[in-house]
Amino acid sequence: MARSKGTVFFCTECGYESSKWMGQCPGCRAWNTFAEAPSGKGTKTAGAAGIVRKSGRDEKPKRLAEIETAKETRVSTQMTELDRVLGGGLVAGSLILVGGDPGIGKSTLLLQVCRNLAEKGHKVLYISGEESLGQIRLRADRLGQFSGELLFFCETDLDMIAGVIEEEQPEAVVIDSIQTMYREEAGAAPGSVGQVRESTHVLMRLAKENNITIFIVGHVTKEGTVAGPKMLEHMVDTVLYFEGEKNASYRILRSVKNRFGSTNEIGVFEMEHDGLHQVLNPSEYMLSGKPEGASGSVTACIMEGTRPVLLEIQALVCRTNFGLPRRTAAGTDYNRVNLLIAVLEKRAGLRLSDCDAYVNIAGGLKVSEPSLDLGIVMALASSQRDVPVDDRMMIFGEVGLSGEVRAVSMAEKRIREAGKLGFTSCMLPRVCLDRMRERPDGIRLIGVRNVREAIQCLQPLSGA
Ligand code: TYD
Ligand code: MG
Repeated sequence: MARSKGTVFFCTECGYESSKWMGQCPGCRAWNTFAEAPSGKGTKTAGAAGIVRKSGRDEKPKRLAEIETAKETRVSTQMTELDRVLGGGLVAGSLILVGGDPGIGKSTLLLQVCRNLAEKGHKVLYISGEESLGQIRLRADRLGQFSGELLFFCETDLDMIAGVIEEEQPEAVVIDSIQTMYREEAGAAPGSVGQVRESTHVLMRLAKENNITIFIVGHVTKEGTVAGPKMLEHMVDTVLYFEGEKNASYRILRSVKNRFGSTNEIGVFEMEHDGLHQVLNPSEYMLSGKPEGASGSVTACIMEGTRPVLLEIQALVCRTNFGLPRRTAAGTDYNRVNLLIAVLEKRAGLRLSDCDAYVNIAGGLKVSEPSLDLGIVMALASSQRDVPVDDRMMIFGEVGLSGEVRAVSMAEKRIREAGKLGFTSCMLPRVCLDRMRERPDGIRLIGVRNVREAIQCLQPLSGA
């Protein structure tokens, strides 16, 4: 291969880039992993090239008012949960990466999206490099009826795929998965960083030139990033992660990057025998199975994007049998829990130094929002004293090192969500209560200034 002026070399293990070949990669210290990127110049800027460089040389910089706005039309996937995560539906010409652990349901989700799009009269192409047509058929049979123009194709050679896409002109394409795709020219093995990068460039160009939406499935490495390092995330327009516990049936779709909408949005799904079902009211779902009248159980509220989600915090405090007390935190930050235990000891006079303490976010959600602090503190205190917190009370607030309860954002939204689900009282930071312009009716608000005040609310219940 003739070396062009802008050639780059990059490590096929970690993606480290360099202008010259090296024996050992300075990034990951692996030997003999450097490969040359074909047509270096094009590759390096292909991400931008696909969008920008279409016209001739006489293009000039423009004022904002001179730029024509292409009217952005969104195509609904017929799943409100997915549409919200995408920022309102699919944008033509976008490249969407769907990452997640193997077996979490990526192929199932995308097959359902394909079905919905085809049903609405869009032409869709599903390309699988992992499963045979027979296996896809079996999966599709589980999902139910299919109609419209949905084509399936088993192939891993990207040049072939590009040919098929250009010939068939579908409106949406699914590539399952990027790790199985290869291009003869890139030289490296499928799944290597070089191939993943090259393949993504090709798909990016295809998406922009033909104005089609392309979904790419990407497997996740042990470290929790899409295999093929961060660079894959930089290249695409939208990155969605599909997460969930293997043994729990619900799945969370999270957007971590979105050029066409906000991040932090989540969509909740449940995996059943006939595919994924949307969970339209996650709060209700997360609280199902909450024990009544049990000590150590507290309802708290987090914000997932713009949406409040209620969840249950559980704490169990018991005497240590061995010298060193054990502390665990499942679903939330371990260090934060330790800090809150220390605050409780010092500022509220609770004796916890000779106790084991276990904290768990029920339902398997992973959250680390400061607004959970007050809930965790109350759950710990409730378990230590063996006094249940009112079942119809929702609690939120951040706790500082002096034991003060600090304000959190969007208090009204959280309270309204609790009201909707039938909660009758809410414990919140005093500052939030004072700032509130109008108080929602039907729900009693208890503003607390510090953890001591909060814990005092536990007392009267013990007599009840
Ligand atoms: P899959 O979509 O193949 O996962 P991925 O593409 O992310 O690797 O999901 C496979 C799992 O989902 C598998 O364990 C079976 C389960 N499943 C159901 O429970 N119900 C269904 O209707 C389908 C199609 C799959
Ligand atoms: Mg799959």
